[in-house]
Amino acid sequence: MIKFNLLIRTKIRYYFYIFAPACISKISCMKETVILDKRFREMIPGDQINKRIEEMASEINRDFKGKEVVFLGILNGAFLFAAELIKYIELKARISFVKLASYEGTKSSGSIKELIGWNEDIKGQQIIVLEDIVDTGHTLERIIGELTLRKAGGIKIATLLFKPKAYTKDIHIDYTGFEIPNDFVVGYGLDYDGYGRNLPSVYVLVK
Ligand code: IMP
Ligand code: MG
Repeated sequence: MIKFNLLIRTKIRYYFYIFAPACISKISCMKETVILDKRFREMIPGDQINKRIEEMASEINRDFKGKEVVFLGILNGAFLFAAELIKYIELKARISFVKLASYEGTKSSGSIKELIGWNEDIKGQQIIVLEDIVDTGHTLERIIGELTLRKAGGIKIATLLFKPKAYTKDIHIDYTGFEIPNDFVVGYGLDYDGYGRNLPSVYVLVK
């Protein structure tokens, strides 16, 4: 009987190795994708991202219970994060998007970034900025400066990804999806040269 059990188990293991050779170890099971000239490996699977975004929405619902808010998504990267998050928001809320556009200054030779696309009156409103990723924090600083000029009533920051090692500012980030190493990532709205935004998971550059 013992011998028979051993044989069955060995056979099962044998067939497992035959039919699933690519998944014997976790490393060989990792999903990879190629974008243009670069290879990326899956870092945060889509189901984990969606679960975390739902949790972030619950935190926002709890913190702003009974209040009205304006979500301000920063294009292009934050479009997927914003779309997923607001599905779980139970507050009285508006959602709007702005974009940082580069243009060549008429006098300066450097490129100047301007926030375009404002169509909400945000004076006195509670704003929740939605970012795909906070890296150095320059973008965030620029956005907060603009919101302050426009006399927002309150400003909170929610970002799907945060690279603490790259961050150079001391602006507090109120809601963070995932802290990640200082590596280049794509997917879930983030791009490499315009590609990869449609990937449902976050992928990291294979060096
Ligand atoms: P920051 O101004 O340095 O914080 O960078 C913010 C912007 O740079 C983000 O909104 C992204 O558009 C872009 N960015 C920063 N890190 C990455 C990355 O790893 N992959 C793709 N885009 C990134
Ligand atoms: Mg962005």
